[in-house]
Amino acid sequence: MAANIIDGKAFAATVREKVAGHVTRLKEEHGITPGLAVVLVGEDPASQVYVRSKGKQTVEVGMNSFEHKLDAATSEADLLALIDQLNNDPTVHGILVQMPLPKHLDEDLVINSIAPQKDVDGFHISNVGLLATGQKSMVPCTPLGCLMMLRDYHGSLSGMDAVVIGRSNIVGKPMAQLLLGESCTVTIAHSRTKDLPDVVRRADIVVAAVGRPEMVPADWIKEGATVIDVGINRIERDGKKKLVGDVDFAPCAERAGAITPVPGGVGPMTIACLLANTVTACCRANNLAEPEGLTA
Ligand code: GUN
Repeated sequence: MAANIIDGKAFAATVREKVAGHVTRLKEEHGITPGLAVVLVGEDPASQVYVRSKGKQTVEVGMNSFEHKLDAATSEADLLALIDQLNNDPTVHGILVQMPLPKHLDEDLVINSIAPQKDVDGFHISNVGLLATGQKSMVPCTPLGCLMMLRDYHGSLSGMDAVVIGRSNIVGKPMAQLLLGESCTVTIAHSRTKDLPDVVRRADIVVAAVGRPEMVPADWIKEGATVIDVGINRIERDGKKKLVGDVDFAPCAERAGAITPVPGGVGPMTIACLLANTVTACCRANNLAEPEGLTA
């Protein structure tokens, strides 16, 4: 059986359309324009590409984009002073500090200096705790995008066996919390997991978020399972540069019931969810009803 391909690119476009609709409503009915501030420290080429793309999409949905590009040698005090200024700026509803930061800066300290209600990455320790205890929080963008696709495909996820491969703070752990919130039976697998193939074979839902090219082979996938591939790995094959996921796509697509491709699966959903989080943060800041379907 060939799997249904979950089209993240098309889904992200529908999320951006919804966001744009809410932005129009906020402007017309309340005179408020949601604003997202993105802070980039240094010249990491991949980070520059992401930040440019975030800025472009922010403007395309009608929001204000504030970009702050700082020198790689910026001191921690100067970065914290900028974050403090953004925390107190009422035109800024979301703040994102692009990771990784240069080595001399303490990432945890920087993240936790962002006002939790403006933390559109959902990385602040308060948001992590709120999510873990099932309270209203800002939810990390990539897992939120995965959840939206799973809900759209399945409706209810209640009672399903879910295996998340990878235990990062950005994807694996929050993904597991979200799936638990949907009443899945959740396993977090990682590099030390005993008999990983058999653990994955039990899963109705597999989320692969490890960052190892094509590490999940087809014989780990239960017939009809839903496979969400978070990996974005650049490889060279037959002399050509290629983007592949953590899942060996073609053979896994023969066994799965549904699968996300790379590129065009989870990737486009991440920035769409960043925009969704910014609108959500703006509504909360102004005591307005939150947009439906854009949060966990
Ligand atoms: N670097 C890679 N992914 C992310 C992300 O989701 N948020 C931030 N702030 N930095 C990143």
